Amino acid sequence: MSSFSSKIGVLLAAAGSAVGLGSIWKFPYVVGENGGGAFIILYVVCSLVFGLPLVMNDFLIGKLSGKSAYGAFRTLSGNNRWQWLSCLMIITVTLLTSFYFVVTGWCFYYMVEAAMNTFAGMDAEALTNFFHTFEHQPTTMIIYAFIAIFLTAAVLWFDVNKGIERLSKILMPMLFLMLIAMAFHMAFLDGGTKGLRFLFEPDLSKLTPKVILEAIGLSFFTLSIGLGILITYGGYMPKEQDESMLSQEKNVVSTSVQMIVLVLFVSLLAGMIVFPAVFAYGFSPAEGPQLTFVTLPNVFQHMFSPTLTSVSFFALMCVAAITSTISLMEVMVAFICEASGKTKQPLNRHQSVTIVGVIQLITNSLCILSMTGSVSWLTIMDKNLFDAANNLTTNILIPIGAMGTSLFTGWFVPKARYQSSPLVSFIYLMMLRWIVPIVILIIFLESMNVF
Ligand code: PFF
Repeated sequence: MSSFSSKIGVLLAAAGSAVGLGSIWKFPYVVGENGGGAFIILYVVCSLVFGLPLVMNDFLIGKLSGKSAYGAFRTLSGNNRWQWLSCLMIITVTLLTSFYFVVTGWCFYYMVEAAMNTFAGMDAEALTNFFHTFEHQPTTMIIYAFIAIFLTAAVLWFDVNKGIERLSKILMPMLFLMLIAMAFHMAFLDGGTKGLRFLFEPDLSKLTPKVILEAIGLSFFTLSIGLGILITYGGYMPKEQDESMLSQEKNVVSTSVQMIVLVLFVSLLAGMIVFPAVFAYGFSPAEGPQLTFVTLPNVFQHMFSPTLTSVSFFALMCVAAITSTISLMEVMVAFICEASGKTKQPLNRHQSVTIVGVIQLITNSLCILSMTGSVSWLTIMDKNLFDAANNLTTNILIPIGAMGTSLFTGWFVPKARYQSSPLVSFIYLMMLRWIVPIVILIIFLESMNVF
């Protein structure tokens, strides 16, 4: 069985998974749309209150079973009744990755174009046109998505401690340094403090039930909950010398808390890069998803060194995205290795990486052909495959996966529970049994427009 070789390796790989397009692309525009400071407070509270028990739960399920998302539920429950949850997670992760690589490809494309100085002199309209033209170029999009898939597969080709762990130990500190340097740079822009005020001065009148649900959903997305990623990484946690339950649980709690703190820190830094720049040059913070690909390249044109700033920002996004695609694809690779291990023809890691890579080349191409309108019949309920996969995973499958793991531990499999301290165990159990499932149910109903 593969395993990480150190605790810091686990932490950086888990943080690498969590810090991705969610923190750097989605977080700033969702904050922008939901009024800034008040939303940030909510997001931090939700990550700690709802995110922490779910992150701990995933890690514990992986660590105690020593298995990936495929075998963990069966090993701990001793029966096959929870196998649907494993299947759901593999379907979710396959769908999510089918559009996540597309956006990762955009980051690579923008980094290359920024390096070639393409954005120089472009105004808002030209940049919007540039983005829309790109959105209708299937070949370019497919090439860049393939680059992202090949890079991810190349890392997964190696065993986890040589590939994922080694790379996370290099890329994550690099990412933190790049983020800090850029945030520092932006803090000194003339008029940038307005952006910082937007980010940190809460206007409580902006808080509505819908905004609260949005904050919970975003915290699940950024913490990589509900897809079996942290279960798989939990299964790779190194064995401790002291194998007592207390020390295993202590280890899981500290890794979970540190991971969440890192994610919050990175998300805030992303906000501290984006908003001072947006406000300093008079742009609107509520631009939605195109904030990163249209507004920011425009903002960067007005800055002291446009090319360097744009390249650094998109390089930072590429690093964040790749450490996440690695974790998403690893769930599928581990799943295939473990599932085939029971058959007459077990597949090794290289064969599994090849199979998953080929599946992703196909599904991402289909998503791109559908979103560019190149193949008009590739739609589901009038939505292109990109939007359909995005909506289905974010609004339906991920919440069901998170609720399933919560109920699994809360009601059915006491063996998977945290047990060391009576007070913490009680609060933890109440969260998993009642509060988290009810909150997820409300988010779920809200996203289906039931309210
Ligand atoms: N947490 C990463 C991100 O925010 O981009 C990757 C990710 C994992 C996204 C799981 C979504 C998700 F459901």
